[in-house]
Amino acid sequence: MLRVVVCVSGGGTNLQAIIDGIAQGAVCDTEIVRVVSNNPGAYALERAKQAGIEAVCVAPKDYENREQFEEALLGCVEEAAPDLIVLAGFMVKVPQKMVKQYENRIINIHPSLIPAFSGTGYYGLKVHEAVLARGVKVTGATVHFVNEGMDEGPIIMQKTVKVYDDDTPKTLQKRVMEEAEWVLLPWCINLIAEGQIKVENGRVTVTE
Ligand code: GAR
Repeated sequence: MLRVVVCVSGGGTNLQAIIDGIAQGAVCDTEIVRVVSNNPGAYALERAKQAGIEAVCVAPKDYENREQFEEALLGCVEEAAPDLIVLAGFMVKVPQKMVKQYENRIINIHPSLIPAFSGTGYYGLKVHEAVLARGVKVTGATVHFVNEGMDEGPIIMQKTVKVYDDDTPKTLQKRVMEEAEWVLLPWCINLIAEGQIKVENGRVTVTE
């Protein structure tokens, strides 16, 4: 059984896609052992509770400084003894200590085709605003391993989504979620649970 900790900050629709994937059997041999949020108001915490999953909040404002917050976050994750950490709309830069400790065991979903529209400042709706401003015709989502960089780790999988002339950041965000994110993330977790993902020299291969 793959023990998964999911880190969230907002609405939690990607968390929901994982919960549903497990319930429907599309994600095998996987258990979400804890959901962690930096934001006490995150609706994702409610989704976790409704699914009977332990939901914990570690908020920066409850700590004296960044270092203490990062220690608490790492402690909260460690306590759940995960095999895999999934960042599902987690708007916190993962502490370096955590990245080192869980090398190739942290994955993130990003709402664009990395390396386009990724890195510092590109998160949530801002990504889709930038996509529309640049006028690209195709966007999508990426699941990747987390390394010390920002959206720079080995890419596991990507899925494209068309951009339409009349898109707004919100309509585009919705389509990217529906057509790409909610499909890709459970799929990748299942591949990891089945031992089908290999990382070598910064590149990912999917084995049969
Ligand atoms: C998702 O679109 C996710 O890709 C994005 O935040 C949203 C969270 O939605 N993540 C990033 O931008 C990370 N850089 P959700 O809370 O409904 O899953």
